[in-house]
Amino acid sequence: MDQPSSLSRIDWVAGSCRLLAATAKEFRETKPFAGLTIGTGIHLEPKTVALLMTLRAGGAGLVCTGNLNSTQPETVDYLRAQGVTVFATQTRDAGEHGVSLDAILAEKPDLLLDNGGDLFVRAAENPYANLLGGTEETTSGRTRLMPMRDKLAMPILVINDSPIKQFAENRHAVGQSLFESYLRFTNRSTNGKRVTVFGYGACGKGTAACFRNAFSSVSVVDIDPVTTLEAHLDGFSTPLREEAIRSADILITVTGYPDIITAADLRLIKDGAILLNGGHFPLEIDVEAFRNSPDVAGIDRYAAEHIETIRMRDGRAFHILGSGHMANLAGPRPLGNSVESMDLGFTLQARCLERVAKGGLGKDACVIPVPKDIDAMVASAYLDLARWPSGGHALANASGNNRS
Ligand SMILES: NC(=O)c1ccc[n+]([C@@H]2O[C@H](COP(=O)([O-])OP(=O)(O)OC[C@H]3O[C@@H](n4cnc5c(N)ncnc54)[C@H](O)[C@@H]3O)[C@@H](O)[C@H]2O)c1
Repeated sequence: MDQPSSLSRIDWVAGSCRLLAATAKEFRETKPFAGLTIGTGIHLEPKTVALLMTLRAGGAGLVCTGNLNSTQPETVDYLRAQGVTVFATQTRDAGEHGVSLDAILAEKPDLLLDNGGDLFVRAAENPYANLLGGTEETTSGRTRLMPMRDKLAMPILVINDSPIKQFAENRHAVGQSLFESYLRFTNRSTNGKRVTVFGYGACGKGTAACFRNAFSSVSVVDIDPVTTLEAHLDGFSTPLREEAIRSADILITVTGYPDIITAADLRLIKDGAILLNGGHFPLEIDVEAFRNSPDVAGIDRYAAEHIETIRMRDGRAFHILGSGHMANLAGPRPLGNSVESMDLGFTLQARCLERVAKGGLGKDACVIPVPKDIDAMVASAYLDLARWPSGGHALANASGNNRS
C-alpha cells in the first residue's frame, strides 16, 4: 500500500470537478488559448482553481484577481505556487480592490473572465487594442454591462444567461449554500422560524424552497407582481413588504439590487431577527446606514463569527451575518456553491472563452447569452459522466487526469 497522502480542500475540489477535468484533458491536446493571456476577476476560492487550471491546460497565460470580500489566502498561495500571477488582497474596500483590478488590466490580457462587470467596466473606460472579449458570470454584471454595449463592442458571453447556470447554480445551489451559511454562521435551527426572502428570481426560488424544506414558514417579497403570483402559486405566503419584514425571524435578500432593506426599515425589524444577503453586491441590506442610525444604541461584534448585533434604543436587537456580503462566501469557512454546480458553470466559462478565442463572434455578440450549442455540449458531457455504469469509468478517468 502507498503511504497515505495528505491532501487539501483544493485537491478535494479538483478531484470533484469531473467535467472540468475532462475538458482540461481535451484542452491539453487542442490548446485553444495558446499565446493568449486571460485576465480573471472572480472569487479566488478552490473551485476557481479548477477552472483556472483548465484554462492553463489550454495554453492560457493567467493574471488573476478576486471579488470584494471573497479572496481566500490559501487559494492565492496555491495559485502563486503554480506560477499564476495574482493581484489580490482579501478586502472589503472598493478602492483597494480597484488597485488589483487596474493591475490586471495593466497586463493587457487578450480575454477577460469577469464576475460582476468590474473588469469590463474599466476596460470600456480605458480600452486597449488586443482585447478580444470574454465572459461575464453574473446577473449583476450583465445589468452593469448592458448599457455599455456600444462602448464595449466586443463579444462578451454572459454565463448567467445559460439555462444550465440558471437551474444548476442559481436555483439549486445558491439556496442550498445560503441555507448552509445560515447554519454555519449561527448554529441555530430553522424549524418553525418565519423566513422572508426578498427576490423570487432563480436564486430566491431555491432559497425559499431550501428553507421551506428545512421546516421554516417562508414568505416571499418581489417587486414584480407576476413573479409574486408565481411565489403564491408555489405555496409561499406573499404578505406586503412591511408585514413581511415585521414578522420575519430570518430576512434574506437575493435580488441583485441595492437598498432592499434600509434604515427606514429599522422600526420594523423583529427583536432577535437574523439578516443575510445572497445577492452579488453588499448593498442589498444597507448595513452602513444601520450602523449610523440615531435609533441605534450600540453595536456588538462577534468578530470570529462575522456576526454583528445591532442594539436599538427601544430595546430590540437583531443580527447581521457577514456585514451583508454574500453570506455563502463570507464568514467562517465559507464554501460557496456546490462543486457540481460550479463544475457545470465553469465548464460553460471554459467553452465560452474557447469560442471567443477562436474568433468568429462579432460586436453583435456583446453581452449575449451562452450560445445554445455550447449549452447542449456541456449538458451532454455532464450526463455522459453521470450515467451509470459507463459514466462511472469516465468519472474515474476524468478525476485521475485532473491530478496530472
Ligand atoms: N450568492 C451566490 O452564490 C450567487 C450566485 C448567483 C447569483 N447571485 C446573485 O444573486 C442575485 C439574484 O440573482 P437571480 O439570478 O436570482 O436574479 P433574477 O433577476 O432572476 O431575480 C431577481 C428578483 O429580484 C426581484 N427584485 C428586484 N428588486 C426587488 C425589490 N426591491 N424587492 C423585491 N424583489 C426585487 C426581481 O423582480 C426578480 O424577481 C444577483 O445579484 C446575482 O448576481 C449570487
